[in-house]
Amino acid sequence: MSEKIKLAIIYYSSTGNIFTMAQRAVAAADEAGAQVRLRKVPELASDEAIAQNEKWVRHRQETKDIPEVSFDDLTWADALLIGSPTRFGLPTAQLKQFMDTTGPLWAQGKLENKIVSSFTSAKTPHGGQESTILAINNVFYHWGCIIVPPGYINSELNKAGNPYGASHVSGGGKTPSETVLNSVGFQAARVVEVAKALKRGGMD
Ligand SMILES: Cc1cc2nc3c(=O)[nH]c(=O)nc-3n(C[C@H](O)[C@H](O)[C@H](O)COP(=O)(O)O)c2cc1C
Repeated sequence: MSEKIKLAIIYYSSTGNIFTMAQRAVAAADEAGAQVRLRKVPELASDEAIAQNEKWVRHRQETKDIPEVSFDDLTWADALLIGSPTRFGLPTAQLKQFMDTTGPLWAQGKLENKIVSSFTSAKTPHGGQESTILAINNVFYHWGCIIVPPGYINSELNKAGNPYGASHVSGGGKTPSETVLNSVGFQAARVVEVAKALKRGGMD
């Protein structure tokens, strides 16, 4: 039997929406036959800032055992799925800070040909979901990755309505619906399927 595709799901989440989406992505990728690592990027906010938001405090405590991402996760992976909430239409500083440390891997060509996709969550329906995904994907171009967009290629994705990547609208305390979770699950499985096909075709 051929070796399993290795997928690293790397995320940042303050109040849990992205984490919930990442968990569904893990389950779907596992079902699609991948070996999966779930990794969070390091927190940058001060304890004082976090303490102002009860949900942030709770989420931080609940996910304290999720390992932090390392360079080994990036080099190990055939494929990457990266998630971040929107911050003023952009990915979080926490995710960007981690990405900004990857220069040495980039310089050695260790990020080339990774099969990649990204997902997000924002408070309002037009609050920057697409711009956040596209900003994450800009980094993928520089890394020399192969971006897999979910498109509208099944009815669940049509319902979810974001061909750039799965996204959630969290205003009013809404947690990700089944439609959103199915869309991120589908996105994760599609990344795994594309990675498998390219591996069969001889691409490392
Ligand atoms: C500093 C800051 C900036 C934000 N900027 C936006 C924004 O531009 N548009 C938007 O819709 N939501 C914005 N939000 C809301 C978050 O993106 C949203 O609550 C998201 O669902 C949080 O994801 P999480 O639960 O995984 O942390 C912002 C939140 C913070 C704290």
